[in-house]
Order: sequence, then C-alpha cells, then structure tokens
Amino acid sequence: MEQALELSQELARARVDELRQELEKHNYSYYVLDDPVIPDDQYDQMMLELEQLEKKYPELASPHSPTQRVGGKPREGFSTIRHLTPMLSLSNAFSEGDLRDFDRRVRQVLLPGETLEYVVEMKIDGLAVSLYYQDGMLTRGATRGDGEVGEDISENLKTIRSVPLRLQRIVPELEVRGEAFMPKTSFSRLNEAREEAGEPVFANPRNAAAGTLRQLDPRVTASRRLDLFVYGIGFNRGEMPAEHFSVLNLLSELGFKVNPQHRLFEDLDELIEYCQHWQTERFNLPYVIDGLVLKLNSLALQERLGATMKSPRWAIAYKFPPERAETRVKNIFVRVGRTGVLTPTAELEPVHLAGTTVSKATLHNEDNIRDKDIRIGDLVLVQKAGDIIPEIISSLPEKRTGREEIWSMPRECPACGSKVVRSEGEAAARCTGMACPERLWEELVHFASRNAMDIAGLGPAVTGQLLAAGLIADPADLYTLRAEDLMPLERLGAKSVRNLLAAIDASKDASLDRLIFALGIRHVGERAAKILAGHYGSLDRLMAATEEELINIPEIGPKIAASIVSFFENGQNKKVIDKLIAAGVNTVNEKAGQAGGNYLSGQVFVLTGTLENYSRQQAQALVERLGGKVTSSVSRNTNYVVAGENPGSKYEKALALGIKIMNEEEFKDMTERYL
Ligand code: IVH
Repeated sequence: MEQALELSQELARARVDELRQELEKHNYSYYVLDDPVIPDDQYDQMMLELEQLEKKYPELASPHSPTQRVGGKPREGFSTIRHLTPMLSLSNAFSEGDLRDFDRRVRQVLLPGETLEYVVEMKIDGLAVSLYYQDGMLTRGATRGDGEVGEDISENLKTIRSVPLRLQRIVPELEVRGEAFMPKTSFSRLNEAREEAGEPVFANPRNAAAGTLRQLDPRVTASRRLDLFVYGIGFNRGEMPAEHFSVLNLLSELGFKVNPQHRLFEDLDELIEYCQHWQTERFNLPYVIDGLVLKLNSLALQERLGATMKSPRWAIAYKFPPERAETRVKNIFVRVGRTGVLTPTAELEPVHLAGTTVSKATLHNEDNIRDKDIRIGDLVLVQKAGDIIPEIISSLPEKRTGREEIWSMPRECPACGSKVVRSEGEAAARCTGMACPERLWEELVHFASRNAMDIAGLGPAVTGQLLAAGLIADPADLYTLRAEDLMPLERLGAKSVRNLLAAIDASKDASLDRLIFALGIRHVGERAAKILAGHYGSLDRLMAATEEELINIPEIGPKIAASIVSFFENGQNKKVIDKLIAAGVNTVNEKAGQAGGNYLSGQVFVLTGTLENYSRQQAQALVERLGGKVTSSVSRNTNYVVAGENPGSKYEKALALGIKIMNEEEFKDMTERYL
C-alpha cells in the first residue's frame, strides 16, 4: 500500500512538473510574445488539473507554481527590501540642445579612436520595480522606494502575467529592473468603472499602476491588468555581456518582456530624428510613454562615466512636453450612466490634441468643477489623461469676460425628472429613477455591444428609437420584437429590419460569459464574466452563489462578489432574467451544449474506487443518460477518470497518461447540473 502511494506520488510529481512547464511555456507565448498557441480553454483545463493535483498532494506545492500568481492573501502592510545596488533615476533633457550637450559631455571621456553608440528606448510612464531571482526562481520584487530601500510587493508583481516566475534558464543570482505600467485600454476601462461606481478616477496610468501595485489585496492587483517591461540588470552573479543591447537580448532570452522599440545609434542626428518621430507616433502605442531614454551601449564606458548620487552620467531621459491645448467650454451637460451616476461633461470648441480632435471632456463630478472653478464660457487648458481621455486641467480665469456662468448639478435627472441624490462620502450624484430612460438606454446599448451580446445593427440610435416608440423596456423585450413593430420606424428599411431581427435571434446563442457581461452587473467586466462563466458553467449556478463562495474564486474580489449577489437579489433583475430564459437565450457554457440530454456526448469515463453517493451502476447510468460512455480500462481515449475512495491502478494509469481525474464532488457537479 505504502509502495503504491509512493508510486502515485512519483507519478503525480512528474505530471505536476510537466503541467507547470507547459503552463509557463504558454503563459510566455501569450503574455510576453503576445502570440498564443493554444486556445484559452485548453490552458484553463491544464491549470485546473494542476490546481487539483496540488490540492491532493500538498507536499508538491511550490510558491513558483503558475497556480500561485494570485495566491497571496491580503496583507496588513508591506515590509521593506534593500536593493542590491541603488536604483537611480535619470536626469532629463527637454530639447535637441540638451541632447547635444549630453553627447558632448560623454565624448569628453572617450579615448582616441574610441567610438560611441547609444541605445534608445521608450521611457514607459509607470513605476520602477526590481525583481530578484535566485537560481532562476522569482523570490521577491520591490518598488523603487527612495532608491536604496523599497517595499516588498512580491505578491502583487507575481500577478503580472508577463513576469516570469521561473527563468528560461538558471542563472545563480539576478536582480532585474523594469517599469510596471497599466496599458491604455486597462486604464480607461478602470476609470470608466470607477466613475460608474462613483469612485475617484486616477489622473493617469502611472498613478493607476502605482495605486494598483500598492494594493494590500493581490486579487485587486490581479484584476487590474498591469504589464511590465524590463530594461536593465541591477545585479548579476553570472556572466555579463559587454553591451547594453546584448543585455536586453539576454533579458529576452531569459523570458522577460523587453520593449521591442529599442534601437542602436551611432549618428546623433539620426538619433535626434528618431526622438522627434516618437513625439507624435507615441499616441499610437498601447501604453503611455513620457519620453525616450538614451543609454551608452558599452558597459565599460558606462562604468567609466559613473554616476552622481542621484543619476547615472551614461544615460539621460529625453522628455516630451505634455500635450496641452487651450479651448473654450461651450456648455456643460450631464450624462446618465448605466448605474445612474450623473457625469458632467464639457462641450468644447473643437481643438486638435495629441493626435485627435477633441470636442468633449469629462468633468468627472461636481467637486472637480468647483475645485477647478470651471464655468460655462471659460477658456480652459485641456490635456489627455493617459493619452486618451480628454480632461480639463485648469480654467484661465484671467481671460474671463464676466459673461461666464457658474454651473451646478441639476436637482432632477435631465432624462427622467427623478430626484438626484448624492450620498455621504461619495463624489458621484445619482439618478434615483429605476426606470430612467437614459439609464435604460445605456444598459441596452451595453447589452447589445460587440463584446457583450454582439447584436449588429442595434447601436445607440436604433436603441433610442425602440425606447422612444415604447417597444422595449428591458433587454429581454428585444427578443419579442417582430418585423411589423420595426417597419414603421424611421430610417429602418426592410433589409435592416431583417438583418436586425436575425442578429437579435443569433445573439440567443451567445456564450455564457458574454451574457454575464451583458447583464451589466456593477464591477463585472469582461474578464470577471469569463472567470465566472468558467467557474459556474451556468447562469443558474452563478445566481445561487454566495458572497463567500465568490470571494474564493481567484481574481474575484469582495466588491465584485457583493455586487453580483445584490444584482441577483433584485426582483426586477430576476424578472428580466426569467424573460431572457423564456426567450431561449443560452445560459450555459458552450461546452455544455443546449440540451442536457447529450451534454457528455462522445466523452469516455472510467470509474475507480468507491463513491460515497453512487453505486457503480448509478454512476454509469448517470453518464449514459447524459450521452457519455463508461469503459472499464484507462486508455488514451479516456476523457475522465472518476476516483472514489481507495482508487486502484486505473488512477495511476490516468496520472501517467495525463488524463483528467475528478473526485466525487466534481463528478456530481459535472453531471447533476445538467439533469
Ligand atoms: S533606466 C539608472 N530605462 O524612468 C537608470 N528607466 O528616472 C535607471 N523608466 O523611474 C533607469 N522607462 O523607472 C530606464 N527604458 C527605461 C525606462 C526607465 C521608464 C523610468 C524609470 C525611472 C525613471 C527615470
């Protein structure tokens, strides 16, 4: 018996190693190379198997396992870490002249006949961090802090998927430096959600990244999608290349994500041209850069130049001037969001800024307008937060004519006339009308949007027409629309009506995660919706979930959990869901199929050990009722092995062949929900 146990442990260890390696390989392809090679569900399946094996064999657990990226528990505070070598900052150049001065200073230390090469890199606008690897394994990560001592944010850095937990090859001791940042899309999504929730928005992706990395709960960090580019080595007990360019290559080879936009220059004029090129080109990047960094390529020369207390003499940051423009506030209006938050928005005289024409700017909330003293008719300075969201940074009171008007939040919702309230401690004002047409409109537009139910032809304008005509009052009503209802609507020809009805009909088969996202549950974005769909497999089961249960799902934080539970508690929402189900909208995972009857069709099961709640015959009957097959021996054709108490050799064989093993509870989960 003992021998059997050892054997199974050996096999489990081999499988765990294999899974970890595979998962890391795919993680690398996906997050570092941006080139996924296997479908998401296959990845999820492997992750699940690894989680189960680690649970079953706790002695195989490891902090470096891919399952441990979001493994940390919320903390009280951060401890400190002393950097192996100080983390310096860069001195700045603001003009071509400054760059030429820098070049001149550097050339003074050149020996006769020596040439000079620069590497130019993007200056990512995030925050500097260090990652420490011992024998190829990530052991800790820290913020820059004061340059000497930073904070231990290991758990949070581990949640960044492009950070390797294990290097591609073993190096004895290595400290790398890089910039953690929030991509532009994550930033706008985060701020949108915060605005909807009445929470203060982040001024730029750098602040958002800093706030996210200093989160005490790593699950919050994980949910916010940070990324990290590595740009240098702080300490290396292995062999060092002679040039910075090769250092970057080495870092790539070790599995780090290195920004691809780095170039080598010998000619200063070409280098300056490259810098100027990025001044406007930067707006096309998916992350914010606030300049470029010039570094001497030769590490020997770097050493010769040395550093001051604050910054190296062998590198300099070329900083872009922030793009700002002056324009006039023509009017201030409020927009009612899906959750009823009233967001004041400025209508501007169109002005060209950071690559686009801007004619609107969010004013966030009443306090922001009062603090900045922004009035209708004012000349103001606008800039883009995170290169994307136009924002008024200040009014120019010295340019007032006296005809400007002070604005205040309406007391009644401009869309429905309901009372507007602002709760204690909240920045946001909200419309209290449950049936506010503006809210409803936003809700419906979201429901039909491309990443939700993807109903082509049902954009904001048509949605507005349907509401105005009284044809719909909630998303489920869409499924009752008939051609004769739509024909009388203006600008909708017979062909558009046909296409729209077909698109509405097709959306009934949308995947479960799309439906969950489409429902517009506060704080549940696309990613959370995917996780929930994967975890629960059906809307029914999600609706029955408790807060406690939800919090235990990786990446689902307490706020999301509370929001989900209260959404499904709401009677109005329950009614809409009932209507959706009655209309035939899909509420189960694709893999589960529509009809319970053939859900396990083509799946081969092997049973081993004693199950507590089923006899062999009962279990077999259950599988067969759902269209699956039960065989007596494990082979490559087996899809699942259900293992009860005291499993036999079939269990070992399944492990060896890498076949999915499930315990009784999982078997019950898988089968009973489709009966
Ligand atoms: S090198 C000793 N390279 O800019 C030189 N810094 O003060 C260390 N930054 O907080 C910096 N992108 O985090 C370097 N490609 C890059 C960078 C970069 C962004 C940040 C860095 C630091 C600040 C410079």
